[in-house]
Amino acid sequence: MKSLASLALAVGLLAAPAYGINLHKRTDSPARVVGFPIQRKHIQDPVSRDQLRRRAETVQVPLDNEETLYFANGTLGTPAQAFRLHLDTGSSDLWVNTPSSALCTSKGSPCAISGTYVANSSSTYQYISSDFNITYVDGSGSSGDYASDTFTIGGTTISQLQFGIGYESTSEEGILGIGYQINEVQAGRLGKAVYNNLPAALVADSKIKSNAYSLWLNDLSASTGSILFGGVDTDQYHGTLETLPVQTESGQYAEFLITLTALALGSTVIANGQALAVLLDSGSSLTYLPDTMVSSVYEQTAAVYNSDQGAAYVPCSLATNDTTLDFTFTSVTISVTMNELIIPYSSGPFPDGTPACLFGLAPAGSGTSVLGDTFLRSAYVVYDLDNNEISLAQTNFNATSSNVVEIGTGSSAVPDASAVANPATATEGAGSGQIEGPLVVGSSTSSSAAERTPPPAVLGAMAAVGAGIVYAAM
Ligand SMILES: *[C@@H]1O[C@H](CO)[C@@H](O)[C@H](O)[C@H]1NC(C)=O
Ligand SMILES: *[C@@H]1O[C@H](CO)[C@@H](O)[C@H](O)[C@H]1NC(C)=O
Ligand SMILES: *[C@@H]1O[C@H](CO)[C@@H](O)[C@H](O)[C@H]1NC(C)=O
Ligand SMILES: *[C@@H]1O[C@H](CO)[C@@H](O)[C@H](O)[C@H]1NC(C)=O
Ligand SMILES: *[C@@H]1O[C@H](CO)[C@@H](O)[C@H](O)[C@H]1NC(C)=O
Repeated sequence: MKSLASLALAVGLLAAPAYGINLHKRTDSPARVVGFPIQRKHIQDPVSRDQLRRRAETVQVPLDNEETLYFANGTLGTPAQAFRLHLDTGSSDLWVNTPSSALCTSKGSPCAISGTYVANSSSTYQYISSDFNITYVDGSGSSGDYASDTFTIGGTTISQLQFGIGYESTSEEGILGIGYQINEVQAGRLGKAVYNNLPAALVADSKIKSNAYSLWLNDLSASTGSILFGGVDTDQYHGTLETLPVQTESGQYAEFLITLTALALGSTVIANGQALAVLLDSGSSLTYLPDTMVSSVYEQTAAVYNSDQGAAYVPCSLATNDTTLDFTFTSVTISVTMNELIIPYSSGPFPDGTPACLFGLAPAGSGTSVLGDTFLRSAYVVYDLDNNEISLAQTNFNATSSNVVEIGTGSSAVPDASAVANPATATEGAGSGQIEGPLVVGSSTSSSAAERTPPPAVLGAMAAVGAGIVYAAM
């Protein structure tokens, strides 16, 4: 079984020079961007939800209604059939349920909230193949057909977008995966060519110029944020965007990994001189870092670690403390205030009666380090899949104005983003090399594995952590 074991060796070997994204304020016509609001769902128990994602093989609990974090609305078909889709940067296929599946016909109509698709009710439906089959790290999944149909989101329509129809499904939620195309199941699992998933289709259809999007999650108390394909809203962050190279895995750009070099709590240095691969994952509620870093933050904040839960609790009053936890990536620092790190979720007060709140930082153990929601809300992040770069800036919470600029093509000089000089390449990142939950392209011990011929591109560490996909042996 291959896992991210090779990550430690491979990460960064192909790190490209960073150029900074190319932003344009269009004056001749409206900016060519596609943007829409996203909505955060309340997570009842973020710790065990994250654990499902991180330790998939040990848990059999199916997705429940509290499982996913961010939603966007879209429609498929003619006439339009409406969906509430889970937005996922950790996978790369769009798929939806059908009303006739065993799951959707079960008691309580569990698929009704997210929506279901009836191929025969759409005059623009086109069948592609019967080999759609996606499995997520939490064990849930969906299989059926690949089809194409008219897809509308954020007021923009793609005439024939490929997507999966879950004739069999264990997930109530349709999912809009917007990650690297190499992770599409038809490519990663079946060894077929990649197809244009949503961000790529927006480019192919000239709706946007570049396969890049910006994610603004806003603060803990806000329930909505936004995603902007092909553009950046300069009013949603402070300062300028700083651009870092995505780190590779086994020579491939497959996930949004960047290099963390330092961590500080106020004036206390927690770690310095690091070259740690960390995954940006908006599907993870908490942030996971190496145990040594986490335990020194816990010491400083008097956090009480609960080993059963794998997470720590602090007095809720720490939220009013103005110390920040500062994450540095070569020369870019994102500061996270205590109130963004302290989640009003508790399994009860401390023994002395002090109200306890969940701390948004937990030990990664032998797993990958993940910058989840508790980090990402404080950062405005541009995911540039064309140039394999991530641009970061300190978020502007509750921004009320808007200044949208297009992301252009190529790598020329930038008005509002600058490349970080000499960005660090990650030399570690998967701890001891084991990674929980995510898998695995092919199982070398399986007899059928030999029959599969995944393209060289996906051999090796294609683990999609977070909401990522599982590539089990076929
Ligand atoms: C999605 O649509 C529902 C129903 O119309 C609406 O209540 C919700 O606010 C919408 N969410 C987003 C993120 O647009
Ligand atoms: C559409 O309807 C036809 C005829 O009723 C049926 O044979 C076919 O299986 C249906 N197709 C899908 C995708 O449901
Ligand atoms: C989809 O893949 C999973 C995992 O490999 C497998 O267990 C399941 O049988 C497959 N489903 C179909 C319909 O092929
Ligand atoms: C804020 O938290 C830091 C780190 O735990 C601590 O050193 C400092 O004394 C706290 N400040 C206040 C005003 O409580
Ligand atoms: C943003 O708005 C929310 C809701 O009004 C408020 O609770 C929060 O304090 C604001 N955040 C900042 C950083 O101003």
